[in-house]
Amino acid sequence: MNAALDKHPEIANLPLEKLLLDLENIPADIQTAVKNNGGGHWNHAFFWSLLRINRGRQPEGALKAAIDETFGSYDAFKDAFATAAKTRFGSGWAWLLVDEKKRLKIVSTPNQDPVFALGAPIVGLDVWEHAYYLKYQNRRPEYVNAFFSVIDWTVVERLYAEAVR
Ligand SMILES: [Fe+2]
Repeated sequence: MNAALDKHPEIANLPLEKLLLDLENIPADIQTAVKNNGGGHWNHAFFWSLLRINRGRQPEGALKAAIDETFGSYDAFKDAFATAAKTRFGSGWAWLLVDEKKRLKIVSTPNQDPVFALGAPIVGLDVWEHAYYLKYQNRRPEYVNAFFSVIDWTVVERLYAEAVR
């Protein structure tokens, strides 16, 4: 990412989110490097900011209401999110996001592709094999299920409030 931006100092100071959202408008010779390395940085930084042992805490307030309205229940949300995470073929990410109509939506993306074009992410899970093979080997479903015990819902509730504002 840094090497790519060294070639185009005129865009080197733009926010990463702007570069990723505007990928087709940045110089063609660095689009792939920005997508893969910049996207990878953003995705991981976001993912890690959500991780905290939650001792069974579930979403509350406006986020809980939106999850219940969209998916039927927290358990139904978990099932839908886990399905997206488990069925992403190869490497990628599963997301809970707020779309342009301010509705919750579960999507998955390949590789390190940025998710912003689909909406504002509020939960993201790395399902690259590198994220789980040391502990879970090839058992992605166990890794995905364990994720629900380390989602910091306080952070997600704040992201949701910002996304629907
Ligand atoms: Fe990763």
